[in-house]
Amino acid sequence: MIFPENFLWGGATAANQCEGAFNEGGKGDCLSDHLTSGSLNTKRRFTKNIEMGAFYPGHEAVDFYHHYKEDIALFAKMGMKAYRLSITWSRIFPNGDEMEPNEEGLKFYDSVFDECIRYGIEPIVTLMHFDMPYHLFEEYGGFQNRKVIGFFASFAKTVFQRYKGKVHYWLTFNEINFACIPMGNLEILGIYAERTKDYTQPLDDPQKRYQALHHVFLASAKAVEIGHEIDPTNKIGCMISHVTQYPLTPHPEDMLYVQQQDHQFNDFTADVQIRGKYPYYMKRFFDENNINIQWEKGDEGTLKNGCVDFYSFSYYMSNCQSKIKESEEHSAGNLLEGITNPYLESSEWGWQIDPVGLRYTLNKIYDRYAIPIMIVENGLGANDKIENDKTINDGYRIDYLKAHIEQMKEAVKDGVDLIGYTMWTPIDIISSSTGEMKKRYGLIYVDKNDDGTGSFKRIPKRSFYWYKNVIASNGENL
Ligand code: BG6
Repeated sequence: MIFPENFLWGGATAANQCEGAFNEGGKGDCLSDHLTSGSLNTKRRFTKNIEMGAFYPGHEAVDFYHHYKEDIALFAKMGMKAYRLSITWSRIFPNGDEMEPNEEGLKFYDSVFDECIRYGIEPIVTLMHFDMPYHLFEEYGGFQNRKVIGFFASFAKTVFQRYKGKVHYWLTFNEINFACIPMGNLEILGIYAERTKDYTQPLDDPQKRYQALHHVFLASAKAVEIGHEIDPTNKIGCMISHVTQYPLTPHPEDMLYVQQQDHQFNDFTADVQIRGKYPYYMKRFFDENNINIQWEKGDEGTLKNGCVDFYSFSYYMSNCQSKIKESEEHSAGNLLEGITNPYLESSEWGWQIDPVGLRYTLNKIYDRYAIPIMIVENGLGANDKIENDKTINDGYRIDYLKAHIEQMKEAVKDGVDLIGYTMWTPIDIISSSTGEMKKRYGLIYVDKNDDGTGSFKRIPKRSFYWYKNVIASNGENL
């Protein structure tokens, strides 16, 4: 056996992409409720008001809110040992700044976790996955405002207390390093950045963005401290979108450029959350970009006391970067675009598929931090075709997952302490970047279409049976 016996095989989802029921159970409005649908070529729009005639796919999503029993039963049938999911902050604190939580929201997650536990599925819970309560955004300017740190800490305390004994694994902020690029203003920080006319780029203010990120670091650190106090057996991790980058050429300028990009996008946020302080290389970056972070008394100690226990990350693709060959062909990607790597193939959405890059990345991360690692997202978005209303032959998804798991095996043999793998996703949900249903990642098909039609019927795909076998053999039978 290459994987340890207690390896956490599972799947991952995010509340804003699967729950739906956006105005039920006492839930308050959250940021993702204001995102319209889009596509590969049309960006999703964030609208302050809900516009008549516009389509907001998160409002219904795949209605996990009403189907969770059926869905978790299917996850159990697949043999899943872990299920990564997120809590919608605004189900617990509808506005984010109340003194008392919403009991109905707390009860909902009680039922979800009880259901998991009934089947021996370990919940892995993300506290914030791109869905800040709308009121905190509107009234406080999101994490630009230090008060929001306290609101997040109180949300964290409430759920750590309530789910003590039911949940042992937690992640604070999903893909926290999204805040290191202008597009992450809204999702991580709750900052409204006007978009350019073609809606492709936000008009970014790096000073504002990095100050707000400082507050997010503090919020995360406080949550970690509280989580450990409430239950010292809690394991709390950071969550990084690791976009692995290669130099397009061996030119020393390209090597250096990739090192800098890597520091700023992949390493910075993990360094802070794991080492409890800002890394040396950010000083020059801040100086050269006129960024001046305001620290308050106690911030240093807060970061030091709130170090995470393990490293978790999403891995979908890799790309190339170059300083000397700017005009090469570009590829799309998860959060970051890059230059096309001539040795790799791409998904239908243009993300370059790179299983060997996963082994490289696992080794790189373990070498840097030497703490346990969990892969909490990895999967293929594809436009699946359903045959005769009942069969989905997604051999391409099996190929993708198989190739990545093979490389995980190699990394474990290399000596990396990999403790879990929650693929994205056990069930079709809406895409985060495009809002589409047709960009499907699931092992279970959901009859729901881009125009909002569909019966919500769940149908296991071929990959469902394949993954079941992988889990049953602890990764031996691929
Ligand atoms: C990650 C997010 O960026 O990638 C998920 O954490 C997201 O929320 C996933 O769904 C895949 O991206 P997309 O845009 O294809 O859904």
